[in-house]
Formats: sequence, C-alpha cells, structure tokens
Amino acid sequence: MHGKQNEKYEKPTLTKHYRGFMNKFARAGSSIPHDTISGVPVRGLVEQFGSPLWVVSEADLREKYKDLYRAFSARYPKVAVAYSYKTNYLSGICALLHQEGAWAEVVSGFEYDIAVKLGVPGDQIVFNGPYKTRAELERAIKQKSKINIDSFQEIDDLERLAKELGEVVKVGIRVNMQLRKVDWSRFGFNLESGQAIDACKRVASSDNLRLSGLHVHMGTFILNTKTYRALAEKLLGLYMAIKDTLKVEIEYLDVGGGYASTNTLHYHWIPGEYACPAIDEYAEAICSPLVTELRKIADMPLLIIEPGRALVDEGMYLITTVVSLKALLNNYKGVVIDAGVNLLPTCFWYRFNIRAAERPASLSDGDMTNFVNIYGPLCMNIDCIQLGTHLPSVTAGDILVISNVGAYNFSQSMQFIRPRPAVVMITEDGVEYLRLPETTEYICQLERVPGHLLKKFNSVQKGR
Ligand SMILES: Cc1ncc(COP(=O)(O)O)c(C=O)c1O
Repeated sequence: MHGKQNEKYEKPTLTKHYRGFMNKFARAGSSIPHDTISGVPVRGLVEQFGSPLWVVSEADLREKYKDLYRAFSARYPKVAVAYSYKTNYLSGICALLHQEGAWAEVVSGFEYDIAVKLGVPGDQIVFNGPYKTRAELERAIKQKSKINIDSFQEIDDLERLAKELGEVVKVGIRVNMQLRKVDWSRFGFNLESGQAIDACKRVASSDNLRLSGLHVHMGTFILNTKTYRALAEKLLGLYMAIKDTLKVEIEYLDVGGGYASTNTLHYHWIPGEYACPAIDEYAEAICSPLVTELRKIADMPLLIIEPGRALVDEGMYLITTVVSLKALLNNYKGVVIDAGVNLLPTCFWYRFNIRAAERPASLSDGDMTNFVNIYGPLCMNIDCIQLGTHLPSVTAGDILVISNVGAYNFSQSMQFIRPRPAVVMITEDGVEYLRLPETTEYICQLERVPGHLLKKFNSVQKGR
C-alpha cells in the first residue's frame, strides 16, 4: 500500500480558506444519487452480483482510449500507446485496450505473460523496469520486444546474453532528468550528470547491442503540462547529441506516462476534475517541440507514450454497502461500509468521490448532507476510506458508489481478512464477469500444512 508516499507529491500548504473551498465543492454534489453506471441500475448490480463489487464500464474505457490516441496522433505522425499494465492488469481491461490498438508496457515476466496470453505481438511489448531476469530478457530478445535498459549492470548482462544467443539486440536507454522536486534518479541514467550519454556510448560501442530508443518516465499524476514540454525539449537535446556525435538514428522516443486523472489528491487545493489538464494539453506540450524539431528528419522516430492512470482510473467503480453507523466521541458520525482499504489502497492518496446510490428516504429536497468518517469492515484501525466527507443521511443497507477507482487499486489490492469481491464489466450486451469473487478455497489452494502438524492437531483434539 502507498502509505506515506503521498508526502512526495508537490503539495501546497492547505490554508483554512482552501479547506472551506474544498468542502463547499465536496458538499455540492454529494447528495446527488449515483443510481446507474453506464445506464445499469446500481441496486440491480448488487442484487445480481453482491456487495462489494468492482464495476468496469466498457464504453468509458473505449472512449478514454480513443480520445487519448486522437490527441497524440493528431499532433504527431507516428504514435504508439503502450498501456502500463501495472495500473490494472485485469485481462479483460488489457484485452479491451489491445482491441483498440494499445501496445503493452510491462515491468516483469508476470506482466509479460499476461500480454503474451492476450496475443500481443512481441514487438508491441515495451519491457521496462529495474529488474529483468535472464529468462525474461531471453524471451524479450526472441520476441523482438522493446527493452529499455535501466542500469549499467543490465547493459553488461544483456550484452553477454545477446552474444550467447548470437543476436544483435535493439535496445532503449531509460533516462532520468531533473524536472520535478521528486527524485526519480533511481530509475535509468541521469541526463544532467552525463550518465545518460555515457550509457548511450557504451551501447553504441557494443557489437551485440544496437541503440534504438530513448525512454523517460518521470513520475505519476503530473498536473503541470509545462514539465512535459521541458521533458520533450531535453530529450530532443539528447537525441540530437546522439545523432551528431554517435551517428546513431534513434527509432523511438518513449516519453512514459504520468498523466493525471480527475481524482482529487488529499492535498489538492481544488477538486481533481478542475485541476486535471485535458489530454490535449499534455499532447500539445509533448508533441509541439518534437514536431518542430523532428519534421526536418526524413524518418521521424516513433513516439511511444505509456499511460496508465489517465486511461483506466475513470472507467471503474466500487459499489459498497453501509453496514452500520457509529456515534464517534468527537461528535462526528462514522459510517462503516463493506469495502476496506485492502480493496482501495489509493484512498491514502485520493479523496474519492463517494455518493449514495439512491436518495435516502429521510432526505427531502434541500436537506443538508452530513459530515462523516467512512470506515471499512476490517478489524484494523488503519481501515479508513475517507475522513470528514459529505454524505446524505444513510443507514445500514444503503448502497454507496465510489467513482474513479480503476488505477492502482485492483492490481495492488489483496485479500486481507476478507476475500476480494467480483469484478464485472458493463458491455453493450449486458453485464459480464471479468473476475469471479474469491473464495476461501481459492485463497488457501497454494498452502500446505505439513503432515506432522496435522497429526499433532488431531491427537490433541482426541486427547481432550
Ligand atoms: C515505466 C512506467 N511507465 C508508465 C507508468 C504509468 O504511469 P501513470 O499511471 O502515472 O500514467 C509507470 C507507472 O509508474 C511506469 O513506471
């Protein structure tokens, strides 16, 4: 779980004024019922599939992908969207995005396996990450995937492997740059210190490696699009240096992911839907410097982007049911729901939009919402979904909908105290399972109890 990582965000100081501003926004929409998802009644979904329930909207995801691809391909002639698998590697979600034309961006053999299982061609798999095993690299070489190298050790390992296989392997170099306050220099080679050009020279001098790509991924949830313009400009500088001094034609420039969703971070001044730049603003910031400089070149490099959050956060919901109400000592009300932080790890980052599915019977027009704490069902004090949020007067059995939960929740969720619920997708033709609810048998199937422990247990029982 993310825990303290949100400290790393470039957080503004929250003044009383902004707190009031936030609360006003939060209250504004909090009493509007969230009664359907993609046209399907929420109560019907709970009756059919139970609660809690993850719900994916096929239409929303398709629209997101199309819009993102349009924004970039309208501004740059050769674009590949490599979906960042770690964001949410449910096979149904990945399959949908591949159907739309997405490549796969993977950071482990496990994620690579999923892409292969879904039929993604090897040369449409971008293989990133600080640790790739020999077997993983061997498969990626054979499949002609785009391997972006993270360290000098990896250059040595890959060179040795390529030699053993008798191959000349095309590779990319991951570059980090000083663009933000957050330090990401642990990934790849630093530009400003000269490490990146040294790595490029090292690859260019190898008989078994061929330098073919440059990769940067500078972080996540980046709201300032000027940072992407700076990234593109610095990357162009390196591209030109390589072209002029090493006489190498780079085939792809991969600018990574990091594009925000409309969720609200805990330290945001204003709600995410107002703070999040349009995807066209990101595309413009990246493509405009690239096109200005590269259009003079006959064979422009392919532009790869690796979105995660911006593609899938908004197409997924978590439906949950109120199980009890609590009167807290600080005069707040507590609302206990059946979905915990084990299903929603990004609640440590996000202030989610949580609304009742139906207008509670006790609420008439103009009624005020209540300021409540929302807790999960786990017998752990950490299980707080949201502290100090607005909800109408709900009671046990009322259904709530938490929006924009598609990124980094399912893939980081775990069975903890309770098994994980089902995931369904709303399609044009109805509602289909993407994943069945977990059972005790499923969770325990990899466990083994050594025979002597079982025997002892039985004899103790018998002796009683
Ligand atoms: C290399 C790489 N590319 C892309 C992404 C996707 O980032 P985001 O979900 O912020 O778009 C990540 C996530 O951290 C990443 O590590």
